[in-house]
Amino acid sequence: MAKDLISNAEFVMSNTRVDKCPPPDRPEYAFIGRSNVGKSSLINMLVGRKNLAKTSGTPGKTQLINHFIINNEWYLVDLPGYGFAKISKSQRQKWEEMIRSYLQERSNLMTIFILVDSRHEPQKNDLEFIQWLGLQQLPISIILTKSDKQSINKTKANLAMLTRELRKTWEFLPPIFISSAENKEGRDEILTYITHWNDQFKL
Ligand code: GTP
Ligand code: MG
Repeated sequence: MAKDLISNAEFVMSNTRVDKCPPPDRPEYAFIGRSNVGKSSLINMLVGRKNLAKTSGTPGKTQLINHFIINNEWYLVDLPGYGFAKISKSQRQKWEEMIRSYLQERSNLMTIFILVDSRHEPQKNDLEFIQWLGLQQLPISIILTKSDKQSINKTKANLAMLTRELRKTWEFLPPIFISSAENKEGRDEILTYITHWNDQFKL
């Protein structure tokens, strides 16, 4: 059903700087989360293209701000992951600066999808990042990834722990989706949600 929502998906450009990104003239959705959580795979699953965004079994694959244009109407953005152990302090600072300015300055961001691995209990760096986005008053949505890797009960238990943690500081919880790039779970829900946001976009 949701397949009809995607008629075309193309790579636009890669950047390190927000001011070099495409003009912010259409709705945009960024995908962020720990390295290896499945950001690039989820983008490919949503648009129905195997290798549009580059994926890898080795964390740290995505290094830049990558824009993809969908149906010539909206942007999906693949970002590098955080929490990747094998980088130097200066690389990490560069990454943080690049991501921070992109997220704070990009005016057409409708929502930021934070991806969290459904196999684990909430991790400190995920919670800290969500907290930071909240403090910036940026609009967020959460996607639990790789749900095919364990039982539904395990996913639900981790989801319950995550919501319990978030409730400690958030009055209203952001929308939370469960997904798998492997079996396409969550595809219809996420694309329908994006379509609703697209309708809200004003220049
Ligand atoms: P970085 O770009 O390094 O930050 O990683 P990423 O978050 O973009 O992860 P990526 O999509 O490259 O996926 C990392 C690994 O997880 C790859 O080996 C994928 O095949 C695997 N993977 C991603 N999503 C899923 C999923 O839903 N199910 C399963 N079983 N494997 C997945
Ligand atoms: Mg990636």
